[in-house]
Amino acid sequence: MEYCKLGRTGLTVSRLCLGTMTFGFQSDEETAGRIMQRAADAGVTFFDTADVYPLGADLSIVGRTEEIVGAWLKGQRNRFVLATKAVGKMGPSSWDEGASRKHLLDAIDASLHRLGTDYVDLYQLHSDDRETPLDETLEALDIIVRSGRARYIGVSNFLAYRLARALGRSDALRLARFVSVQPRYNLLFRQIERELLPLAQEEGLGVIPYNPLAGGLLTGKHKHDGAPPQGRFSLGAAGQMYQDRYWHEREFSTVAAFQQATQEANVAPVTAAVAWVLANPAVTSAIIGASRPEQLDASLAAADIRLDPAFKAKLDDLSHEYRFGDALR
Ligand SMILES: NC(=O)c1ccc[n+]([C@@H]2O[C@H](COP(=O)([O-])OP(=O)(O)OC[C@H]3O[C@@H](n4cnc5c(N)ncnc54)[C@H](OP(=O)(O)O)[C@@H]3O)[C@@H](O)[C@H]2O)c1
Repeated sequence: MEYCKLGRTGLTVSRLCLGTMTFGFQSDEETAGRIMQRAADAGVTFFDTADVYPLGADLSIVGRTEEIVGAWLKGQRNRFVLATKAVGKMGPSSWDEGASRKHLLDAIDASLHRLGTDYVDLYQLHSDDRETPLDETLEALDIIVRSGRARYIGVSNFLAYRLARALGRSDALRLARFVSVQPRYNLLFRQIERELLPLAQEEGLGVIPYNPLAGGLLTGKHKHDGAPPQGRFSLGAAGQMYQDRYWHEREFSTVAAFQQATQEANVAPVTAAVAWVLANPAVTSAIIGASRPEQLDASLAAADIRLDPAFKAKLDDLSHEYRFGDALR
């Protein structure tokens, strides 16, 4: 495993980060424990979670993932860099979601309670809440940092212009500044290369992309002719969202070309897909995910390889069209 600094901060993170959103729904607590142990044994020191996880859950079990992660971290919290997120819906009231001062100050305490810790290393806005004034959100996050409940703050799923604006406002108001972005990024979704990644590089932000396998589509295990099997693409509304993103003829034909290229290069598709994300110089750490421990090995292997430049160029070429498209699809 390699390690590097998160953007311009002094915080060292592993180049692979373990995502946890399967824990507590797709993966039970015992399986989740084995996934975390497998990652830790491979040198992963960076874990990402969110208050709304597990994926596929309804309001009755939001927060379960943080409880599972917290229970596993008990007694070894200091060995890991822990990131979580807020903004998603956590309760029935209109103020149980979003980036208002009221919700964020409630949300951090609830996350810390579930995680069994008195601080998180990185506290991220899960998405952009355009209904709350940016200054109010930044002031609430500043309180959270100054009180020691979060060491750093970041964003996820932000458009570049909104992030640029937020950085300008935090500088003007002398408030804690975002140090990282967590965007979706994989061979089938490359729009962030055009504006967000250049912004992150100019501003010295850490970049920790999620979804490196496009939810598993890049494994090549899915077939377009037929309903998705049990797993990511069949998780109720969340499964439908993943189908809307990737379950299309165009994506399946790119995956076929990708499989062919990996076969010729003699690299496992999962390893190649994650290594391709890591090969972008703007990327700090790729967030990998699994519903079973044995799935993790091929993703973990990405930390140990360098893509041959000709192979990387081939992957860039066959996925070039995904640099364009609807920014928020
Ligand atoms: N900020 C955000 O909005 C956001 C959104 C999504 C994710 N994330 C974070 O990023 C993490 C990773 O995202 P992701 O889970 O979408 O990543 P991903 O790598 O695109 O997909 C992981 C999924 O692919 C399948 N898979 C993985 N390895 C496999 C293998 N070797 N063989 C067969 N199938 C395999 C598994 O799904 P099945 O077993 O179900 O097929 C697994 O859960 C999450 O846990 C979360 O922490 C953040």
